[in-house]
Amino acid sequence: MKGIILAGGTGSRLFPLTLVASKQLQPVYDKPMVYYPLTTLIENGIREICLISTPHDLPRYRQLLGDGTAWGLAIEYREQPRPEGIAQALLIAESFIGESPVTLILGDNLFYGGTEFRQAFAEFQAGALIFGCHVHDPERYGVVEFGADGRAKSIEEKPKKPRSNYAVPGLYLYDNQVVGITQGLKPSQRGELEITDVNIAYLRRGQLRVARLSRGFAWLDAGTSSSLHEASAFVQTIEKRQGIKVGCPEEAAFLRGFLSLDQLATLTSRMPNCEYRDYLAGVVAEARALSKGG
Ligand code: DAU
Repeated sequence: MKGIILAGGTGSRLFPLTLVASKQLQPVYDKPMVYYPLTTLIENGIREICLISTPHDLPRYRQLLGDGTAWGLAIEYREQPRPEGIAQALLIAESFIGESPVTLILGDNLFYGGTEFRQAFAEFQAGALIFGCHVHDPERYGVVEFGADGRAKSIEEKPKKPRSNYAVPGLYLYDNQVVGITQGLKPSQRGELEITDVNIAYLRRGQLRVARLSRGFAWLDAGTSSSLHEASAFVQTIEKRQGIKVGCPEEAAFLRGFLSLDQLATLTSRMPNCEYRDYLAGVVAEARALSKGG
């Protein structure tokens, strides 16, 4: 499975913050927003990643993430000149996707907790797999309606009268048919290639599965000043209470086996003195102690 992070758009709702740095580079508590979706991909075993952003912002992402080798990843970059729809990412990344299945994640979506993703990635074989998350304001999202059999019955993008409270978060798993399906899409009334139309195409083929996220699962998007602040507060609360970082790609790469303990230790030792380094030094020390004890 390959992964695409979509981190473009105008970020107009965060103006003037986004005058100098793109939305997905803004801090969510103690790290750049893009670290969170990147960590979600790593946690689920994806190491070949394509990041898409605007021509203006792409150099900053390269500066931040490089080619990914330091974290045991392979990161490529592609430009989206204009924000012409989330599904356009699948066309821009066509040569990257090749013959593979692919996961698309939005650069401003944060996920925390639950075991649903792990299970979904492990079980995914063909078709499309998306998620349904209970929210109080479904009209802001893609909304999925479930039939009596528990299967998805309809999906609508930002409906005025939502048929359920289940919103579709910005993480989508597709088999390789997705490129052909997206090539056949027409722009919506707002002039965008809609990801919801891709999902509807799979639904019509009888190849869409929608997994409901449980109560213990947190999904946050950080696209407005308030939601950015709330996401920061959420991360701070969890990190302070548990002493475990949310959205730490280095740690996730180590836990996933993309980095050895020695590689993680070297990476950590090269960081400036800061709380982030102290945290990773703690991870290294704990893992060393465990390996000696075991
Ligand atoms: O957050 C989940 C929702 O994301 C889904 O429930 C909706 O079905 C889906 O359409 C999308 O809705 P949004 O209104 O949040 O989409 P938005 O236009 O804000 O774009 C989401 C992110 O993707 C945002 O960080 C900017 C980026 N983006 C968006 C477009 C349209 C791009 O990088 N390029 C684009 O062309």
